[in-house]
Amino acid sequence: MAKPKLSFICQNCGSVTARWQGKCESCGEWNTIVEENSAGGIGGGPQGASRRRGRPSALLPLSGEMEEAPRIISKIDELDRALGGGIVRGSAILIGGDPGIGKSTLLMQAAAALSRNGHSVVYVSGEEAVAQVRLRAQRLKAADTDVQLMAETNVEDILATLAEARRPDLVIIDSIQTLWSDMADSAPGTVTQVRAGVQAMVRFAKASGAAVILVGHVTKEGQIAGPRVVEHMVDAVLYFEGEGGHHYRILRTVKNRFGPTDEIGVFEMGDLGLREVQNPSELFLGERNEKAPGAAVFAGMEGTRPVLVEIQALVAPSALGTPRRAVLGWDQPRLAMVLAVLEAHCGVRLGQHDVYLNVAGGFRISEPAADLAVAAALVSSLSGAPLPSDCVYFGEISLSGSVRPVAHAAQRLKEAEKLGFRQAVLPSAPADMPRSRDMSGFEVEALPDLVARVAVGGGATDA
Ligand code: TYD
Ligand code: MG
Repeated sequence: MAKPKLSFICQNCGSVTARWQGKCESCGEWNTIVEENSAGGIGGGPQGASRRRGRPSALLPLSGEMEEAPRIISKIDELDRALGGGIVRGSAILIGGDPGIGKSTLLMQAAAALSRNGHSVVYVSGEEAVAQVRLRAQRLKAADTDVQLMAETNVEDILATLAEARRPDLVIIDSIQTLWSDMADSAPGTVTQVRAGVQAMVRFAKASGAAVILVGHVTKEGQIAGPRVVEHMVDAVLYFEGEGGHHYRILRTVKNRFGPTDEIGVFEMGDLGLREVQNPSELFLGERNEKAPGAAVFAGMEGTRPVLVEIQALVAPSALGTPRRAVLGWDQPRLAMVLAVLEAHCGVRLGQHDVYLNVAGGFRISEPAADLAVAAALVSSLSGAPLPSDCVYFGEISLSGSVRPVAHAAQRLKEAEKLGFRQAVLPSAPADMPRSRDMSGFEVEALPDLVARVAVGGGATDA
């Protein structure tokens, strides 16, 4: 008998090594490498299968008949918007998020809404027993709908059940980490199993025309647990996010083969489940102290995702010989640079002041684009003049004091506008950048322009 081929697969990034190691060389994580039987995994094929000769497939021209991707609409606007206008039939969608953030709640509400609109929905729960799911459905007032429930984790059993039933419009799998397949030898929850399970469900979606929504857990780094390769296999990837202690949740698209990826859906978690938030700005601005000097909203990007965060600065006369510089959530050297530019080019004297800088919500910013927001917050705190509450800031500051353009300006502005902001202070923008009617922009070419404006309490428009 042939010796089974073993390989060692990192459970974090999916990279394969020939031997066990304590640390994955590709993603740098410790203790993530697990021995798996690769012969039974994806690409291994059924054991003992003979080599099959390929079958020629038709070659087609680019032009020809096509149809608009047919979509099923949940009428939950925030969800439909995040998906680019509804769920495309035959597509596979991955929804990631921290445990307890409300993924199961969102999908149960979506299932109920779709069912009320006449679509057939199957909800496969691998994490909770039928009774638990029923309890939640009752709480969400979804129990009276025709959503069909299955508590199952074996992929082959799920597919067999779906083949028996009337073809559903939507299948929800909660979650991919509980899926396991007879075809893969590894333990449930390993990369090989998750990949095999997702691949089987994606194939089902394409073959049957039913849409499949897969729930995925997120690791502490904020990535969908298991290999990134799962994200490549599906048509759309959404993240369901929220901040600790807050009730708002954001459904954010990071990949969508059938729509834009800069849309977000905003919800609020309450006693009766998730409520759509039509005007998110109220929610976000409500938690800020608009009158306080020293707070600036930075329109940032997290990878491909736009995020708005508040940067808070406190500048106070120092009693120490060497003033304090404390930073949370940003680069210390970067702060030193902005302070130096403010001193050298703008005449802002901070040498006798303690400076504290904090990024609200425990965020960490790594972008130089935050320079301008930091400078605005610092000057505002020093001068005691609050910044306009509906204004966002972004731009990189160079040592000469000039403000340089940053990437994704249009995306930042779009996110800011979506969240209710109406002014932006930004670098001189390229002429082809799309401008929105509702947003007014103040272009700063050099830092002294900003300082002069902040000191009189102005934002993008004249106060
Ligand atoms: P859940 O959907 O189970 O999260 P996930 O599937 O992402 O792990 O949501 C669980 C949390 O949501 C839990 O902390 C309780 C809260 N919740 C409410 O506040 N109201 C509700 O109506 C429901 C159903 C849940
Ligand atoms: Mg859940």
